[in-house]
Amino acid sequence: AEFHYHEFIVQETSVTRLCRTKNIITVNRQFPGPTLTVRNGDTLFVTVVNRARYNVTIHWHGIRQMRTPWADGPEYVTQCPIRPGGFYTYRFTIENQEGTLWWHAHSKWLRATVYGALVILPKQGSNFPFALPQKDFPVLLGEWWNRDIIAVQRRAQFTGAAPNNSDAYTINGQPGDLYRCSTQGTVKYSVNPGESVLLRVINAALNQQLFFSVANHMLTVVGIDATYNKPFTTNVIMVGPGQTTNVILTANQSPGRYYMAARAYATVRNGQFDNTTTTAILEYTNVNSGANSRPLLPQLPAFNDTATATAFANQLRSIPSNNRVPNQIDENLFFTVGLGLVNCTPGPRCQGPNNTRFAASMNNISFVFPRRTSLLQAYYQNIPGIYTLDFPPVPPVQFDYTGNVSRGLWQPRFGTKLYKLKFGSNVQIVLQDTAIFSTEDHPIHLHGYHFWVVGQGFGNFNPQTDSANFNLIDPPVRNTIDVPVGGWAVIRFVADNPGVWLFHCHIDSHLAWGLGMAFIVENGIGEKQTMEPPPPDLPQC
Ligand code: C2O
Repeated sequence: AEFHYHEFIVQETSVTRLCRTKNIITVNRQFPGPTLTVRNGDTLFVTVVNRARYNVTIHWHGIRQMRTPWADGPEYVTQCPIRPGGFYTYRFTIENQEGTLWWHAHSKWLRATVYGALVILPKQGSNFPFALPQKDFPVLLGEWWNRDIIAVQRRAQFTGAAPNNSDAYTINGQPGDLYRCSTQGTVKYSVNPGESVLLRVINAALNQQLFFSVANHMLTVVGIDATYNKPFTTNVIMVGPGQTTNVILTANQSPGRYYMAARAYATVRNGQFDNTTTTAILEYTNVNSGANSRPLLPQLPAFNDTATATAFANQLRSIPSNNRVPNQIDENLFFTVGLGLVNCTPGPRCQGPNNTRFAASMNNISFVFPRRTSLLQAYYQNIPGIYTLDFPPVPPVQFDYTGNVSRGLWQPRFGTKLYKLKFGSNVQIVLQDTAIFSTEDHPIHLHGYHFWVVGQGFGNFNPQTDSANFNLIDPPVRNTIDVPVGGWAVIRFVADNPGVWLFHCHIDSHLAWGLGMAFIVENGIGEKQTMEPPPPDLPQC
């Protein structure tokens, strides 16, 4: 195993997109930021130096951070933010994870431009469970705003209005040549005829599920969220914010230029729904004839094609390993996930429909981040008054979650409520979408863990009939589950990593409205089951 040392300088850089030049926050003046390539078992030391004018933290999305919760990164959860002029070294070891993860700012909405790929290759001397591809490319899907991203955030978070849509989707930071002024920057991936290519597709978009497809080429799905799956072939994948999907493509079509493209999968629609398409070009080498002609565009599903998204999710199966799905459940939790509206007095902070503002909640609790210190520091040092331990394990009232509910019955309460888990307990969480405001699919991410997705479906979860159909043999293993629109998903994990772990919707507007909570996982017995003490350079609030 190796050690990797990196320096991330967070700083403003001027970039031009969609005919305009503006300053954005970047790492090392790169957008997207640097790709880190490591092997399973390696240790990373990343020193983040903040030369921007905002507080910042970096989160290593999907890294388990075994015993190193201090390196996880969400601000006010595992650390106080790095102030302008400050720095902090994230130190962590990759334990039994292979595939594609990514890193991103976990502070305000800075992750709109502060993100990059984290590629984890097999251990030295071991191989992929599939033939070694000739090429290996990260494909980071994102969103671009012409407006300042902090202004976009403030509108959603503080006025209570629906957030502004982005102005473009992007591949590796570029909208692609279907957008204005974007031809020059369009990303090109060059392949030799016959080569196989591993595409590491990462959805780094703030607020949008995306379909992805490559014209004329089939995609063999081999990995999700840094786990291997049983390979299957498809012409389109759906990736939720936070998720990654590894696909292999073989350059077996007539030499030419083909678009790879991504477009929204959107289950809620407002008046200004964005159905534009971002593109990059898969370009065969030594193409002379027609090299300048327009590439072929793949057919992408319609924005509301839930059937295609569902069919894709249902094909995912893990490669069974020694890690077996827990059969016996110690903690049986049921969390509603949904959007809502709260009544407010007309004014600048009350810009939602009809004297309301948007709120979102789990089990009717809208999560509030602390400000005085981080949750992990408060837990570790026994600082009172930062959080309470009364997050409800089941909804306060049960009803038809897919119907229209009177808002009076379901007005979110605000709080920093956590739920404590004993070390080693087997946890099951039913995640149920609600229709309190409208149904929507929510990509729910658990920090510090991978979980098994033992079932998902539409309508109300039925404990009897639905549990009988759980897949306990080869369920997909992920860190982010896209809970189906108007439906449910059930995850299981073993609480074997002590710390404080955020569990939240990876749509940033939903998180800003409170769609999250956090777990405390207690230490077990002995060094291997105990979190490390905080590093000396941990930022203070
Ligand atoms: Cu990728 Cu809490 O986030």
